[in-house]
Amino acid sequence: MTTFLGIDVGTSAVKAILVDERQAVLAEGSVPLDISRPKPLWSEQAPDAWWRAVEEAVAGLREAAPEAFACLRGIGLSGQMHGAVLLGDDDRPLRPAILWNDGRSFREAEELNARHPGLSRDTGVLPMPGFTAPKILWLERHEPEIFRAIRTILLPKDYIRLKLTGELATEMSDAAGTWWLDEGARAWSGAALAATGLDRSRMPRLSEGSEPSGMLRPDIAHAWGLSHPVVVAGGGGDAATGAVGLGAVEDGAAFLSLGTSGQLFVVTKEYRPAPETLVHAFCHAVPGRWFQMAAMLNGASCLAWAANLLGRDLAGLLRQTEEDFTGPGSCLFLPYLTGERTPHNDPHARGVFFGLSPETGPSQLMQAVLEGVAFSFADAKTCLANAGTTIPTAGVIGGGARSLFWTKILASVLDLSLVRYKGADKGPAFGAARLGQLAAGAGDLREVCSVPEILDVTEPVPRIVEAYAPRIEAYRRLYKVLKPEFASAPHG
Ligand code: XUL
Repeated sequence: MTTFLGIDVGTSAVKAILVDERQAVLAEGSVPLDISRPKPLWSEQAPDAWWRAVEEAVAGLREAAPEAFACLRGIGLSGQMHGAVLLGDDDRPLRPAILWNDGRSFREAEELNARHPGLSRDTGVLPMPGFTAPKILWLERHEPEIFRAIRTILLPKDYIRLKLTGELATEMSDAAGTWWLDEGARAWSGAALAATGLDRSRMPRLSEGSEPSGMLRPDIAHAWGLSHPVVVAGGGGDAATGAVGLGAVEDGAAFLSLGTSGQLFVVTKEYRPAPETLVHAFCHAVPGRWFQMAAMLNGASCLAWAANLLGRDLAGLLRQTEEDFTGPGSCLFLPYLTGERTPHNDPHARGVFFGLSPETGPSQLMQAVLEGVAFSFADAKTCLANAGTTIPTAGVIGGGARSLFWTKILASVLDLSLVRYKGADKGPAFGAARLGQLAAGAGDLREVCSVPEILDVTEPVPRIVEAYAPRIEAYRRLYKVLKPEFASAPHG
């Protein structure tokens, strides 16, 4: 037997999965992570907390499947994108990592856009506050001693690579989310780096996600009970590894990801930038492929937030909401709890319930949340259409894909046929394991990145599609009316 390990450094947890060469799952585990929000708009995590969680998750897999783990030949890494891990001369973090959902550098993002409007066609997207580049401008201004001490900037999963292999390296799909990559050339952009006072010497080496990036260090291999070489693949940002797990590697393959964040993702065989639409055009984790993605900051996390707020268990509340459902609700929810990227590029936006009445109860509020996130996907679909991409059908992945009820709402809101796949809640760690398998030379792209078996297909219901159309318009108007209020409200 030969086995492969996928590790996903997520925002709420590190997830690890062990598969064999036919990609049967032999063991999986997850270790939770905390987010620190020391100031309004800030969102941080300590890189060493990721490493401790990886060690714990791997220990869990070794315990669950010792014989299979002993056959490990390849590791793939996946991770939350856009974070800034800042290392000094000793390759140690200089401060906590600044995460993808951190909005502090909104002024710097605006400035980059104003000063270098042409660069976004190369870097795939307008500079937005969650991306790595504007955070470095922020540091230069607010923490100049840290800025001066930076030796290397890594993405979150690449800190784990450094621990595993000793290599300072990244790969195309995560580099894509920094705003420093020339996406078409698949190389660092000297001009984009210079715009933030940097040059290539501060950047890690680049590889493709399915290529080897280094070997597991002998001391770690020994500690894990392994006596043979283990290759570590480039891996990918979590959007791209989610796609690889779903077999979305060919032109036109599309899916919705309902995780902490939300994404509408379409594979392209060429680089197709459309920065003015706020769609991200990024390199995929496999060579010769790119993708277009509308990226929303608030996905299935809104459901957990609402259930928690109402003091209810999420599964039970979803069941009750489904029983009470008669059609589009009268209450609206803007899901922008942590601001929004596509379609608003607005870190100041916040969540809103609108239309409350004495009849509003927990299931009406939950329905509004399900619909609000679905409406944000309708905006995403419009942005993609503006970027020249229409999709007839899409897969659904991520924790939110477990709910057939939500999938039905999404299908009618988006007027799109939605496909759920067996095991598609395995998420980015599974795609990362596939990249580990490819880097170990155990199969070619077509074999390894197959499309999973279909679980069910949900078609839009014309009567409900029609009923939702005016609600989507009301949702859009509500944001427009409130936008100036968000900008002047104090941040919480
Ligand atoms: C994608 C994005 C999220 C994060 C966290 O642009 O911001 O996918 O990677 O999951």
